[in-house]
Amino acid sequence: MRAGRRVGVWEPGRAGWRRVRVRVVRWGPGGYALTQVSSGEGERPGRLLKPRMVCVLVFPRLGALRDMAPLLQVDNLRTWFRTPAGYAKAVDGVSFSIEPGQTLAVVGESGCGKTVTALSILQLISRPPGEFKSGSIVFEGRDLLQVSATELQEIRGGQIGMIFQEPGTSLNPVFTVGDQIAEAIRLHEPVARGDLRERVLAALRAVRVSDPERRIDQYPHEMSGGMKQRVMIAMALACNPRLLIADEPTTAVDVTIQARILELLRQMQAERGMAILLITHDLGVVAELADQVVVMYAGQVIERAGVEELFANPRHPYTRGLFASLPRVDRRETRLQAIEGSVPPATQFPAGCRFRERCPLAGPECLQEPVLETVEPGSKAPHVVACWKHKELERAPVAGS
Ligand SMILES: Nc1ncnc2c1ncn2[C@@H]1O[C@H](COP(=O)(O)OP(=O)(O)O)[C@@H](O)[C@H]1O
Ligand code: SF4
Ligand SMILES: [Mg+2]
Repeated sequence: MRAGRRVGVWEPGRAGWRRVRVRVVRWGPGGYALTQVSSGEGERPGRLLKPRMVCVLVFPRLGALRDMAPLLQVDNLRTWFRTPAGYAKAVDGVSFSIEPGQTLAVVGESGCGKTVTALSILQLISRPPGEFKSGSIVFEGRDLLQVSATELQEIRGGQIGMIFQEPGTSLNPVFTVGDQIAEAIRLHEPVARGDLRERVLAALRAVRVSDPERRIDQYPHEMSGGMKQRVMIAMALACNPRLLIADEPTTAVDVTIQARILELLRQMQAERGMAILLITHDLGVVAELADQVVVMYAGQVIERAGVEELFANPRHPYTRGLFASLPRVDRRETRLQAIEGSVPPATQFPAGCRFRERCPLAGPECLQEPVLETVEPGSKAPHVVACWKHKELERAPVAGS
């Protein structure tokens, strides 16, 4: 039976045997290891069932449901940091999901919680000072907040690849790039030493590195920013991950290289069918690559929609501010229409709507915290927004456009 199929099984409960619907996560040495699926409102993260607890496989045909399941589902994630000034609520109740092969962009200004969201998925938050206050991060049926350290090791870099925000600091200056890619492969696959060099060369060729036979023996400082970024991508993709997390993959490189890196990501995705979680503050990059967009502000998701819907009909004043601050080539402007002020520190988010001190529409009702409401059901993904006044912005033109 393939991993990912859903089946009905009997398991021993406190009041005798009961039937639960579960998803097969992987083959275990003595049978299946399974994770539980709720029968009510869709899926909830479940513990791993030991193979010996599984008694009868009842509905193997339900495996067809696998194709409908998200690859990654983040639910109500809260990642806080304990600081002398109180908790920094860097990520505070974030939910989204990514389908296989899809690109989901997370956008927002600096300091709104994008990187902490990405690092939480891979459990790269140091604890302390970090604490996971609530939530689940279910990847292919497994809650990454619950899996063992060994499983996590196998998932990181194996099934989920990550391109970090700073390519310069993420590569180790004392090893050649070839050695670093080889290490990334060896951690996840038993490749014979003799074959390793060829695998590394293939990884470099895949990301269109010129002259890979020479580059493989170079140190990071011998490379340009764009080349280092390609090496980072080669490392992240070396084990064919199902999901690539790319944190600001083009901010450290100049505009011409940016376009090439985006094109490369698009090609890699088409060739391998992987999903991408793309973190950026650049709406141009979003328009180029994304299928779905999550807009974050002050640790929360304030708007989420398909890319075309969001660009056609942004409904949160903050999202509209992001669009209005885009430079326009067809207009001579002395100053960009940037949103006044900046994201407050994560220890000092205001009560009620966190955007209220910067919002041109703020009113007395904004002292209450708005919740995400569906404004457009959408055929693939609903358009949701957290703003008391979203109706006033329906189809209203974006300032500056
Ligand atoms: N280790 C930490 N301790 C305290 N606060 C942190 C820590 N890491 C991040 N933060 C805070 O969390 C917030 C979100 O940070 P980050 O996710 O890096 O933002 P973004 O990637 O959107 O620019 C910021 O206010 C940042 O200062
Ligand atoms: S809830 Fe109020 S303060 Fe917040 S974005 Fe909407 S109008 Fe502005
Ligand atoms: Mg960041």
